[in-house]
Amino acid sequence: MNLKKITPAVRTNHITYAVRDIVVLADEVAKTGKEMLYLNIGDPNLFDFQPPAHLVKATYEAMIKNLNGYAPSSGIKEAISAIEREAERKGISNVHDIFVTTGASEAIDICLTALVNDGENVLTPTPGYPLYTAIASKLSMMENPYYLDEDNGWLPDIDDIKSKINKKTKAIILINPNNPTGSLYTLGNLQKIIDLALENDLVIFADEIYDKLLFDGKKHVSIASLNKDVSCVTFGGLSKNYMVPGFRIGWGIVSGRKEILSDYIEAINKILRARLSANHPEQYGIKISLEGDQSHLVEANKKLTSRRDMTVEMLNSIPGISCVKPEGAFYAFPRLHMEQPDNHFVSELIKETGVVVVPGSGFGQVPGSQHFRVVFLPNEKILEKAYKSIGEFFQKYLQKYPEKVGVN
Ligand SMILES: Cc1ncc(COP(=O)(O)O)c(C=O)c1O
Repeated sequence: MNLKKITPAVRTNHITYAVRDIVVLADEVAKTGKEMLYLNIGDPNLFDFQPPAHLVKATYEAMIKNLNGYAPSSGIKEAISAIEREAERKGISNVHDIFVTTGASEAIDICLTALVNDGENVLTPTPGYPLYTAIASKLSMMENPYYLDEDNGWLPDIDDIKSKINKKTKAIILINPNNPTGSLYTLGNLQKIIDLALENDLVIFADEIYDKLLFDGKKHVSIASLNKDVSCVTFGGLSKNYMVPGFRIGWGIVSGRKEILSDYIEAINKILRARLSANHPEQYGIKISLEGDQSHLVEANKKLTSRRDMTVEMLNSIPGISCVKPEGAFYAFPRLHMEQPDNHFVSELIKETGVVVVPGSGFGQVPGSQHFRVVFLPNEKILEKAYKSIGEFFQKYLQKYPEKVGVN
């Protein structure tokens, strides 16, 4: 039989997800028996972090009670009310819709799908979380990156944002605290973004999935809490703050002026209904997580602060590397002061040392600059070993590749 090759859709051509793509190479190297140090995956469960027991218990009990069928499309009532109270605690008042999704990832996908037509664009923080660019590809959405300014603590460059808004711009995305830089937006910045959104009829997508993982007594400010009129979808979930990324539970909170948002909310709900529901028993963990004992966060933030401090200190002591101090989440985005492409550096690093990090190019960056992302969830012993290896390797690398190398 003469079978023809199945051709995938063109829209998949540009989909990359550096965080997982790099694992293919790491797995090959691991097979050779090399000791591997994984600083690439933002999953607290793989390290010495655990979810609160009451969250796991509530989910287990829901399963035993056979609450294993489909849930309502927007989520169970108990969870939606708990998220509504959480929104109030965050200072978000003009809330018109709340929905539970399969991770914040699904909320992001649905909200972009319900808003953006072919050829329209959304302002995306760069560097930023690669899911947004993957969805942009899927929707034939034009990419419209705005840059975060490394010389200013990775805060957004408001003039850059302004210059990039055009007639086809529908929304602006904020990741606060940011993945991959760990930076926290300031009040002044948030206010300027609100002004731009109101002037240009933009929806603000506020990805606040790390809003409780904060250092040095920093307080998180939800952009939606600063203005009742601005159209905003705030994304949250259990994956990071409550350390159950495998439960795949996230949500969206829509706030702003009802008359402005009503058609958009209906469009979101059409998609929510068409995909039936998010995971059901796990939704019984939402209320207890948000309203029960929060002491796991105190412990996690203490551990993360000390690991962040070690990360910044050790990386900054390596000649040719500089690292802005993260203020939240569990990522740092050090700069490699060199010409060579960072994905070449990272591949060589993994092969030579077994230290796995993610190349900066996977998150977007100012053209010509080179970075890598580290996850500082591993304990101090592992981090110390990894940073020492990176330092030694980088000096050798620069000698071996004094000229710019090509990568494919
Ligand atoms: C900024 C950001 N948003 C969303 C997600 C996805 O979250 P979820 O596990 O809830 O889908 C991640 C995961 O790493 C993230 O870093």
